[in-house]
Amino acid sequence: MEPAALQKFSPQEFVNKQVIEIRKVVGRERALIAVSGGVDSTTCAVLTYRALGGNLLCAMLDDAFMRTGEPERVSEILSRPPLKLPIKIIRVQERFLKALKGLRDAEEKRRAFRETFYETLSEVAESEGCPYLVQGTIQADIVETVGGIKTQHNVLSQTGISPTEYYGFQIVEPLSTLYKEQVRRVARFLGVPSEISERQPFPGPGLLVRVVGEVKLDKLESVKVATDAAEKLLAEHRPNQYFVAIIDNTETPEHPRVSHVRETTARVLTIPAERISVKVFRDKATGIKSGKRHYGEIVAVKAQTANGFIYQPPIDRLVALQTEILRENPSLTRVFYAVQERLPKQPYVMAMRAIETHDFLTAKASRIPRKTLEKTAQKILQACSNVSSVYYDVTPKPPATVEME
Ligand code: XMP
Repeated sequence: MEPAALQKFSPQEFVNKQVIEIRKVVGRERALIAVSGGVDSTTCAVLTYRALGGNLLCAMLDDAFMRTGEPERVSEILSRPPLKLPIKIIRVQERFLKALKGLRDAEEKRRAFRETFYETLSEVAESEGCPYLVQGTIQADIVETVGGIKTQHNVLSQTGISPTEYYGFQIVEPLSTLYKEQVRRVARFLGVPSEISERQPFPGPGLLVRVVGEVKLDKLESVKVATDAAEKLLAEHRPNQYFVAIIDNTETPEHPRVSHVRETTARVLTIPAERISVKVFRDKATGIKSGKRHYGEIVAVKAQTANGFIYQPPIDRLVALQTEILRENPSLTRVFYAVQERLPKQPYVMAMRAIETHDFLTAKASRIPRKTLEKTAQKILQACSNVSSVYYDVTPKPPATVEME
């Protein structure tokens, strides 16, 4: 969004208009909203509470993909002053894990998440007598789902699914015309505590989209532990979003592009090809090519110094390297560069991701200092014994997306 349009936007006018609109639509009925503690859903809940008061119920789905302790932490913040929202935690971890079992494809996983999400909400809405579901869907969610990039968990009618027919409630989306920065301005205007209004975004399907490929319990547990460590250490450099993702340490055997990527890396980093190792993972990641969804391969690169340490060039060089690699190898969609590793081989690897962006529709890798990347990777390896290597994802959006899936 252009800075001029952002300046012209009046949160007060927006709130006044939406309060009237929500009252007009919902009347004296009860409404349900699913909250995650993110900026969008919280702002939407506070706005709707202004309009409906006690006729609003906030549901926090403890769906197995929240960060450690998050359902409890968020419920506490939302229910205490100044927000004092009526909130219930719905414990549905087993249900979500069952729905995701055995799925590897990113879009299949997202669709299974969305279905379970709405089925659960449909049951809660029925038992609580709520004919309306309010959601904090924003403009970017709709643009990307309708554009076919990825299925957002909270976009239904825009993709032709009738909520009334399938789930028995009508949907109200007060924030659907806003971009993230406008939502933050509305949040500040509404007095949402800064620990939420200034928080980095968190995807609706949560850590599900950061467990690349199949969900396994030990893999999910490690991504939670690593998330705690990485969020603490990367926050200092104020990227717009920062997190980790976990991937099966399974390569495509004898991938035809490996030697080509090795030569490109040797040329760009001016390191002898013998000191460069390259692997392409079996599991893919979501990307965008020419405005369309591209589910492509992930390549991991490591160059070593003459005395066997991992060579750490400046981020700009790594970004230049990924541009070359992706230009020359159209099946690839992401480039990871090694930060720390250990032997022997373990079942998983992790990628740290930190990005700079204005609107989350495009993004570039943050220039996190090498020392911070190394320290974070070290912490992850210490905390997760099932992880062999920690990489930094240096791919911009496009051709990658912010999240892995
Ligand atoms: P991507 O990964 O599509 O993400 O480049 C752009 C921004 O949106 C967040 N994101 C989501 N938010 N539901 C959401 O509410 C989703 O399904 C979803 N997927 C991605 C992502 O974290 C980033 O901030």
